[in-house]
Amino acid sequence: MDQRIKGFSRLTREEKIEWLRKSYHLPPHFRHRLERYRHKEDQALFDDFSENTLSNFYLPFGVAPNFLINGKSYAVPMVTEESSVVAAAARAASFWAQHGGFTATVSGTVKVGHLWFNWQGPASLLSPFPGELENQLKQAVKPLTANMEKRGGGITGMEILPSPELCGTWQLKVSFETIDSMGANFINSCLEEMKAPFMEFFRSSEAHKKHAPPGIIMAILSNYTPRCLVTCSVECPIDELSPVAAGLPPDTFAQRFKMATDIALNETSRAVTHNKGILNGTDAVVIATGNDFRAVEAATHAFAARLGQYRSLSACKLSSDRIFKFELTLPLALGTVGGLTNLHPMAALALELLGHPSAKELMGIAAAAGLACNFSAITSLVTTGIQKGHMKLHLTNLLNALGATDDEKTAALKYFQGKTVSANAVRLFINNTRSL
Ligand code: MEV
Repeated sequence: MDQRIKGFSRLTREEKIEWLRKSYHLPPHFRHRLERYRHKEDQALFDDFSENTLSNFYLPFGVAPNFLINGKSYAVPMVTEESSVVAAAARAASFWAQHGGFTATVSGTVKVGHLWFNWQGPASLLSPFPGELENQLKQAVKPLTANMEKRGGGITGMEILPSPELCGTWQLKVSFETIDSMGANFINSCLEEMKAPFMEFFRSSEAHKKHAPPGIIMAILSNYTPRCLVTCSVECPIDELSPVAAGLPPDTFAQRFKMATDIALNETSRAVTHNKGILNGTDAVVIATGNDFRAVEAATHAFAARLGQYRSLSACKLSSDRIFKFELTLPLALGTVGGLTNLHPMAALALELLGHPSAKELMGIAAAAGLACNFSAITSLVTTGIQKGHMKLHLTNLLNALGATDDEKTAALKYFQGKTVSANAVRLFINNTRSL
């Protein structure tokens, strides 16, 4: 059977499932599982989030308690599929709550977007543009910006810049203050609305008399958000690190910790894994609160490579007065209004649990979760290694994959206490138990 189809989106859900089942020769459980994971009450809401929705994909919604951030206590909601991420965040949060907690500062919530265009004239003819152009474009998008302005946001600046590498390509760069919303739809709507008045302005200018009109290529926000930076740090006297040092003298632990972060700062192949460990925590909060984790990931990696080499986002300092400081800086364009933040029932619940934070407050919380996971990962790496803790928490996944019964699970958890967990060892244990 031909597996291509036209008009799939116009089929009913039933018809889509039937077509998939027949085309890909799927067993009966294909339909059953899709049905089983549909929501009994809120399915219509989820169906509308995306297209061709057949069912839902579940991820655990967990909580890491004991976060003290800027003097305020939080139980941080985290959505992740990875064993040991929530445990790692919670462990670090508990430790740092007893040592002053996390300090988070946010540089701002300004984002930019661009109207990209081609034009063959010289920059000198565009230099008189900005003031008057800005007034006219702001006026043209007033119906879109009025609400945002009431909340203290709106368009904060415009510039016309040539693209240094692409002769004849220009950008109208527009800055937006989006306050508590992430602002992607707001920015894109404004930029698209600016196309026609931008062309009109051009046609009535000196630049137009001497050169052919510009051709607009596209209008889109930038997910690179270096004006939405969050810096989050923890610090304590080196001697107070004993509880996490797994038996190492605190000085040795602190030195190793610093060496591990220096490696990540200098070696790209380690920096990527190090930053992945930060995003384990950050993304989990971003997802739990209905924010766009792809935008956060893209911005984070671009920021990590801003100096021409991909580097770690966090660093450790040991000062002469024996203070250990661990600090993270990353761009986080998050919202607490708009998008799915209040529409997704679990995202709304997560924001409720956090006490309805502002976007800036949420940016600090997500950064703290990232720093906490990063701290726990490096701590394990330079002491016991990460597999011991990770595999212990992953044990139940391995048992579930083998279809272990409750009795087999209880026996396995007892047996593997203090023993090394591996996929093979667990398989052997279950096989042996079953052959008794
Ligand atoms: C695993 O998800 C994350 C770590 O690899 C991070 C790191 O190596 O720093 C443990």
